[in-house]
Amino acid sequence: MKILVTGGLGYIGSHVVVELQNEGFEVVIIDNLSNSSIDVLKGITAITKKQPIFEKLDLRDKALVIDFFNSHQDISGIIHFAASKAVGESVEKPLLYYENNLNPLIYILQELQYKASSYFIFSSSCTVYGQSDALPITESAPIKQAESPYGNTKQIGEEIIRDTCKASANINAIALRYFNPIGAHDSIKIGELPIGTPQNLVPFITQTAIGKREELSVFGNDYPTEDGTCIRDYIHVVDLAKAHVSALKRLIEGNNTQNFEVFNIGTGKGYSVLEVINAFEDVSGKTLNYKIVGRREGDVIAAYADTTKANSILGWKAKLSLKEALSAAWKWENK
Ligand code: UD1
Repeated sequence: MKILVTGGLGYIGSHVVVELQNEGFEVVIIDNLSNSSIDVLKGITAITKKQPIFEKLDLRDKALVIDFFNSHQDISGIIHFAASKAVGESVEKPLLYYENNLNPLIYILQELQYKASSYFIFSSSCTVYGQSDALPITESAPIKQAESPYGNTKQIGEEIIRDTCKASANINAIALRYFNPIGAHDSIKIGELPIGTPQNLVPFITQTAIGKREELSVFGNDYPTEDGTCIRDYIHVVDLAKAHVSALKRLIEGNNTQNFEVFNIGTGKGYSVLEVINAFEDVSGKTLNYKIVGRREGDVIAAYADTTKANSILGWKAKLSLKEALSAAWKWENK
């Protein structure tokens, strides 16, 4: 089966391409290289011994999207990653985020309407829950007003898919709400490549440990948690990638009970920022230079997944530990 992976040279997309190829799927990648490198294609090929088809294409151009689907009529499934993901940037450039994250989604769904059947996986985020009143967070937790335009694009994206699926029974879709993806492939041939200063915790830790950054700022130690720092559910990117294959297979095998379903994808365990730092110091043998600073605007106190639905219905479970993920991230930074 031929599967289109948009944004397939990005951090999560590239790991998903590897898992799809390992499972025997034929993969076509579309990427505009705006936040990725063509070298990632070499990494994927080296790991899987198979080069995916690649087209450099900007999905914001509707005519190009139409052309693409006309010339690739044998695509059965789409995993849609292509989007912008920097929270702070989205506050400064909201229209860029609405354009990047929503127009391509609409253009792709418009093409899928005409197909006899299609499978669609959407890259969503736990950010849709905001600060959930109950922990761990289940899929039925209320969706809170988004904290940023980025978060809003994930909420609106899910709504667009939900409405489209209601109107088009031929489209079967799943949105995966990721918690905090970290780490790299154990071959260390692909990993996260942040452009500029990383905004996320783990790349900032590894860049500090290797000397690219002087010091890590820990955003707040006065939260109502055990050690005062925020709690997140950090999931190894390879575990996360495998969840996409499980979701796709559910659709292909016709096991879905509705034509739009959502699943939390996390480990179910929450770790504080200081716990992550300690675990990193353990696996790397380095002492991390960090200081406690004020809170970062928009941060929730604690977010970790109830993964019961994904475990029981998708038959998927995260297997790798925080330390395994941090160790892979550290090897990747060294490489
Ligand atoms: C962030 C986004 C979220 C997005 C996710 C994946 C925000 C508010 N949320 O999640 O919408 O889906 O990335 O890209 O930006 N921390 C530090 N120092 C740092 C960096 C982070 O202490 O230099 C702390 C944060 O306060 C937080 C934790 O580390 O408690 C994780 O932060 P981060 O990796 O940015 O992820 P989220 O904020 O959970």
